[in-house]
Amino acid sequence: MGVADSGTVGRTNQTVDRTNIHRIWRAVLAAIALGVAVACYCAPVLLIVIGVLLVGLLCARLVYRDRGRFIPNLYARDIRLYDEAYQAFITQSLTELRGHRIPGHPLLWEASQLPEPTQENSDELLLDLGVWIGWSTRLTSDASGRTVYGFDTFEGLVEDWQIEDQFLIKQGTFSLSDPLSQRFIRETGVTLHDGIPGTLGRKVHYVKGRTYETLAPFLAERPGAPIRLFHMDLDTYESCLHGLETCKDRFVEGSILVFDEYLVTNGEMLAFFEFQARYGLEFQYRAWGLEVGEMNAAMVTSRFKRVMYYLAAIAIHLLDGRYLWKIFTKRFWRFWLGAPIGDIVFMLGAAGVRKSVSLEITGMGKLDPTRH
Ligand SMILES: C[S@@+](CC[C@H](N)C(=O)[O-])C[C@H]1O[C@@H](n2cnc3c(N)ncnc32)[C@H](O)[C@@H]1O
Repeated sequence: MGVADSGTVGRTNQTVDRTNIHRIWRAVLAAIALGVAVACYCAPVLLIVIGVLLVGLLCARLVYRDRGRFIPNLYARDIRLYDEAYQAFITQSLTELRGHRIPGHPLLWEASQLPEPTQENSDELLLDLGVWIGWSTRLTSDASGRTVYGFDTFEGLVEDWQIEDQFLIKQGTFSLSDPLSQRFIRETGVTLHDGIPGTLGRKVHYVKGRTYETLAPFLAERPGAPIRLFHMDLDTYESCLHGLETCKDRFVEGSILVFDEYLVTNGEMLAFFEFQARYGLEFQYRAWGLEVGEMNAAMVTSRFKRVMYYLAAIAIHLLDGRYLWKIFTKRFWRFWLGAPIGDIVFMLGAAGVRKSVSLEITGMGKLDPTRH
């Protein structure tokens, strides 16, 4: 286990606006709508064609009976493939989360809500599990003004990551030696010291190694320290469940857990479902918003390159967007026919998928030490 060390700064507001890409995306959507309106003005027959299509879509939504059966990440997966208890958990979670949509990143939002660092809360731990080139850790420290501990192999995923029935991301992806990592390291001004990202003046400590080996010794060195903020971005079900289990005795009422990929039903959500069921944990959802990983592009120092990254991401979203183009796929129709209107607006409002969720532990269940 290696540890890289810190500088000192208080709570800071970065000048970089991390939701810019989504604003540009909404401007693109508005421009498309304006283009269609102008085309309709010039050729009124288009108005009739579009009207017929819209009425057809509305009628199809009325007869389509599978609303709510697919999770709104990509309206990807029919949740009937799971047992009844997990199906009920997913359905209940989404119902609750719809009341907690936020435009930004749950991680940074939660970090900014934490009380200022004081002598009394100095033992509280803020953990960032899965840091890649380190920006999630640094920005969490900026937003909270507190010390944040970031954990990573810096050699990539420990397991293969199967995302629903769609993609397989191989073990080793996100290694700092990857060309993409190297490019972002260079373009966001990150330095490396013995294979560990530099702190860049923030109150962060990076712990190198697999969480399977690093997390328990780290906690053992800080006996009794409660976890105030737990950010899970290790991606895989296995690493997520292990992280939750290892930290379980340090969670307290009021601990905030943020999952970057919560709406992947065979990953973080499944791990949390099993974890909370095993210990009878009580919790409440607090926010549903943007994944934190997306903000790496916002940290690119050259404005020109940053805008280029945004435009490339938007182009990929448009061309690969499962909601927009893929009319020959079931997923496309599940989205347009089955998704609640609010979800459609929420999903289309961002140039990427919104999968990140935060929650607060409100009751310790079997983890309550007074029950032993
Ligand atoms: C998606 S990246 C994290 C992105 C980062 N939070 C951000 O916002 O830029 C996932 C990271 O988790 C790390 N990782 C996955 N499983 C791990 C494990 N069990 N132990 C340590 N690191 C792990 C990978 O090396 C990778 O860098």
